[in-house]
Amino acid sequence: MSANREQFSSRLGFILAAAGSAVGIGNLVGFPVSAAKNGGGAFLIIYALFVAFICLPVMIAEMALGRKAQKDPYGAYHSLTGGDKKWSFAGALAVLTPFMIAVFYMVITVWIFGYLVQTLVGNLDQLANPNNFGTFINEYTVFGYMAGVAILVNLILVGGVKKGIEKAAKLMMPALFVLLIGLVAYVLTLDNAMAGMRYYIVPDFSKMDASVLNGALSQAFFSLSLGMGILITYASYISKKEDIVGSSKMVAVTDSLVAFIAGLMVLPAIFSFNPNVNPEELSDSSVSMIFVYLPQLLLTLQADIGYVGASVVAGIFFLLVFFAAITSLVSIVEVPTASLMEAKGYSRKKSLTVLAVATGILTVLCTMSFGMVEGLTKFTQYGGVDKSLFDIVSDVFYDTILPFNGLLLCLFVTYRWRKANLSEELAHGNESYKGSFMEKYVNFSLSTFIPVVLLLIFVNTVATKYF
Ligand code: PHE
Repeated sequence: MSANREQFSSRLGFILAAAGSAVGIGNLVGFPVSAAKNGGGAFLIIYALFVAFICLPVMIAEMALGRKAQKDPYGAYHSLTGGDKKWSFAGALAVLTPFMIAVFYMVITVWIFGYLVQTLVGNLDQLANPNNFGTFINEYTVFGYMAGVAILVNLILVGGVKKGIEKAAKLMMPALFVLLIGLVAYVLTLDNAMAGMRYYIVPDFSKMDASVLNGALSQAFFSLSLGMGILITYASYISKKEDIVGSSKMVAVTDSLVAFIAGLMVLPAIFSFNPNVNPEELSDSSVSMIFVYLPQLLLTLQADIGYVGASVVAGIFFLLVFFAAITSLVSIVEVPTASLMEAKGYSRKKSLTVLAVATGILTVLCTMSFGMVEGLTKFTQYGGVDKSLFDIVSDVFYDTILPFNGLLLCLFVTYRWRKANLSEELAHGNESYKGSFMEKYVNFSLSTFIPVVLLLIFVNTVATKYF
């Protein structure tokens, strides 16, 4: 199997694909808003420290595991333990999680696609109506957009690693950078842009408390696509010549840089739209930011550049978010695809077909859980609130299980697979790794405080969400 396992064609291809996974909706909208609300520059500093000292070792470990095993996450846990049942459970969870998060992410990507198309056909004025979003998500046309996104993702994935995943990343990631830089340059010319910039960058440490720290770490962990088996899977497609530590740093820096630059677009735009805005009152949710607040903001640009001009800027914005979302979606669907190929011996096409049906059914059900079907909308109740099917998927897999998967991974790599093997794997492609400070830090952190921190996040989430 592994002799003819597909590979990325180059280091750049791998880094772009991994960065494509990491750069997503979370970077472009979620990050800027939470940075602004939680102390601006102070949040940026804390976030950077979390990325460097907590997330980077986890990313390195995921990649090392994948390349060593040359398998999907389930296959990796399974094969490196000789089929140990306990650890196969961790492997199964590392496949189930991306499957369910794929559903969650698909729902949102479909909306973005819908808003992109609507902007392009000249309906920005309609999108800017605050009631539009509620109507849009409950109209049956949403299933048409869903079909569009599903076809695109499958067309990319059926091409395989080199001709699908890598090619899409090589097209979309540079385009994404250009669109982002273009938008930042434009937004900075708007009135009052500097006030937004100041709010974003000037540190205010008084906002720091345990919940902000928890939020920053969760955001960093999710943003770097950790705990979802993605980097295990992608790294199973690289050769022993690649320097994993070096590539991980590149991915972490790219992802954080895009998040930071997105803030230079979002906050100046918000302040120019409303100079008296109090960012603390902005909604925490990326969803209401993208689909309710920003369309109103984008429409006001027509006073300066006309309706067509405003529509062009809005179209560029939605295209940017769409590219970011598609490369993330591709990476997350690749995990169960690779697992089915490995476990069942299916061809790529057959795995994709099976998954298209399975994720399709769940995505349709989740999409109907915003009001179309009462039983799905008020599916259950916990923590004192009604929860829809979509809420459950998001709470359980995105909020709760992600740090738990990270915890299992740290314990697995250092105590079961063992540090010496990890070091051995990381020394391939990086001769100076052994004996380096990096090696000591990675081994120490993964076996001590990182799992403790992830456990605390997990326990805190369980305690606050469900009781
Ligand atoms: N890193 C992505 C983001 O910031 C999250 C993600 C990655 C979600 C891959 C799904 C799949 O939005």
